[in-house]
Amino acid sequence: MIAENQTTRPPIEGQLNAAERAFITKAILEAPIKPRIALEVGTWLGGGSTLHILRALQANGTGHLWGVEASKDIYEKMITNIRAGAPEAVDRFTPLFGFSTDVLPVWLKSLPPGEAIDFAFLDGGGNPYEQIEEFRLLAPQIKIGGVLMAHDARMRKGKWLVPYVSLLDNWQSEVFDLSFAGLLRAFKVKAQPSEASFRAAERKLNVMRLEPIELIARFLPSWFCGLVLRALPRNLMRRLTLGPQIAKHDNPA
Ligand SMILES: C[S@@+](CC[C@H](N)C(=O)[O-])C[C@H]1O[C@@H](n2cnc3c(N)ncnc32)[C@H](O)[C@@H]1O
Repeated sequence: MIAENQTTRPPIEGQLNAAERAFITKAILEAPIKPRIALEVGTWLGGGSTLHILRALQANGTGHLWGVEASKDIYEKMITNIRAGAPEAVDRFTPLFGFSTDVLPVWLKSLPPGEAIDFAFLDGGGNPYEQIEEFRLLAPQIKIGGVLMAHDARMRKGKWLVPYVSLLDNWQSEVFDLSFAGLLRAFKVKAQPSEASFRAAERKLNVMRLEPIELIARFLPSWFCGLVLRALPRNLMRRLTLGPQIAKHDNPA
């Protein structure tokens, strides 16, 4: 149960809709073994995933969350917000400043020997390869029975991770359409994928990475991509940077 006083405080800014927040909360409250080590990438201002993961850990009476955020000013505001929004759970939280691919290897090395991740939530940058890199770093250290969630499963951000994980036979995954953006939930069921499933996932990823628009984004300088994107009509720019699903959200039938 989440205590009454925690839900009546002034809201702090955060993303994810109410159904997604409730889904994450429930996964932590109802986990067969209460999560002890939780990690998230992309806290933003803290009022979405971070606050709801923390409140659930607090209600469980156990667990610690490490939250990675790459933008300095957002990171600082998020820390202030979490102190105000969840003072009772602040000792369960360690913010980590930087890009996930820099921060996670160091954080993983800092885990005591034998410790593994119970719960991970990926919601960082919009480049679909980032979730793949984050998954590759974290997956070996997620315990069997552990949960990985990733936001924007139907968007550009998650468009490679979803098919990639679905082909790995040591994960059971599903996308929940609680918003237009989609939420991936995957349970780790075995330590390693079979060689065949790993190869199939890698093959699929290599093919997906050949998509012309992603090749352009990968090989052209980011300043040039930014210039081109800014010159495009807003709808097209949003489709390219966020994914085609955004068009349905912007213009519901
Ligand atoms: C969509 S927002 C996260 C929303 C948040 N999970 C919530 O529920 O409110 C994405 C955040 O990830 C951060 N970010 C982007 N790329 C990142 C990276 N590579 N590593 C860590 N944080 C990143 C951005 O600065 C931004 O604050």
